[in-house]
Amino acid sequence: RQNVRESLYIILNYAKNYYQHQLHNSDEGQAIGLSYFRERGFTNEIRKKFELGYSLDNWDAFSKEALEKGYSAEILEKAGLLIHKEGSHTAGYDRFRGRVIFPIHNVAGKTIAFGARILKSDKNQPKYLNSPETEVYHKSEVLYGIYQAKNAIRSLEHCYLVEGYTDVISLHQAGIENVVASSGTSLTVEQIRLIGRFTPNVTILYDGDMAGIKAALRGLDLVLEEGLNVNVVLFPDNEDPDSYVRRVGAEAFKEHLKKASKDFITFKTEILLQDAGNDPFRLAAVIQEVVNSIVKIPDAIKRQVFFHRTSEMMRVDEQMLITEGNKLLRKQQ
Ligand code: CTP
Ligand code: MN
Ligand code: MN
Ligand code: MN
Ligand code: MN
Repeated sequence: RQNVRESLYIILNYAKNYYQHQLHNSDEGQAIGLSYFRERGFTNEIRKKFELGYSLDNWDAFSKEALEKGYSAEILEKAGLLIHKEGSHTAGYDRFRGRVIFPIHNVAGKTIAFGARILKSDKNQPKYLNSPETEVYHKSEVLYGIYQAKNAIRSLEHCYLVEGYTDVISLHQAGIENVVASSGTSLTVEQIRLIGRFTPNVTILYDGDMAGIKAALRGLDLVLEEGLNVNVVLFPDNEDPDSYVRRVGAEAFKEHLKKASKDFITFKTEILLQDAGNDPFRLAAVIQEVVNSIVKIPDAIKRQVFFHRTSEMMRVDEQMLITEGNKLLRKQQ
């Protein structure tokens, strides 16, 4: 087991260097990959920091070279780099072809997987292809950018959470380094605990579409349960942190973070209240839902603060909320 993991780290590191080399030194990498990153405004410095690369548009350019270097087809396959079809008499073909490459690092900085983006949108292909689950890559436990962000998160005692690879990179370039990405998946307990190793304070930067926000609201109770302090910032429709920071610049972006940041419970209460309008049955459901979230907070003093605040927002008796909350708390035990 231990040996397999070590071998995987070695081949993944080799692949990372290979893709970086292709980006900067091959004609195709320069013409296609490098100009893509330049168009997105990524500097040399930021490309190096995140070890960005390019995979040639060729069936087996990478694996051919790796096999020649003595890596086995078996380990390439275990690393998720080679796809071998059962019954085929060739070694297989490269998973990543004709894409820009985002290496994914663990907390210690070892490469454990790759995200790979197509250059032009194509409805027959996914925008991002990612490494499959392997012995060193468990997607649900990983936060993209944690290695590059961890010192800043610790010293600022605060972590921003975004959706995508390019959000992390653009924010670093704008001087905001305490940022990680869930990589499109909904947040897991493991990811939350990973943040919690560095800070209890998280701000989630959502893009602006309501459908996504409502879906995420439920999952966020998980974060409260882990005892983290959660704030939320919304962005205008059809923008993500990457596009927004590029449009308005670093200073206005930071100003927006300050002005638009709301604690999660207040945020959730506002959204649910808007939705319910004046319908008393729906208002009753909102009250239940909000109390449900508040009782997930392990700290009694913080719970009290939120009972008080939300009773004012919902214009209901605070003592009634506390009584309802206590019922739920007793059930939980
Ligand atoms: N994602 C993925 N597979 C996809 C689409 C998205 O794994 N087919 C993940 C990636 O980690 C991506 C994140 O979800 O970074 C957010 O998706 P999206 O907002 O669509 O991409 P962006 O990060 O904004 O990428 P870009 O700006 O290049 O379009
Ligand atoms: Mn999105
Ligand atoms: Mn984007
Ligand atoms: Mn996005
Ligand atoms: Mn009070």
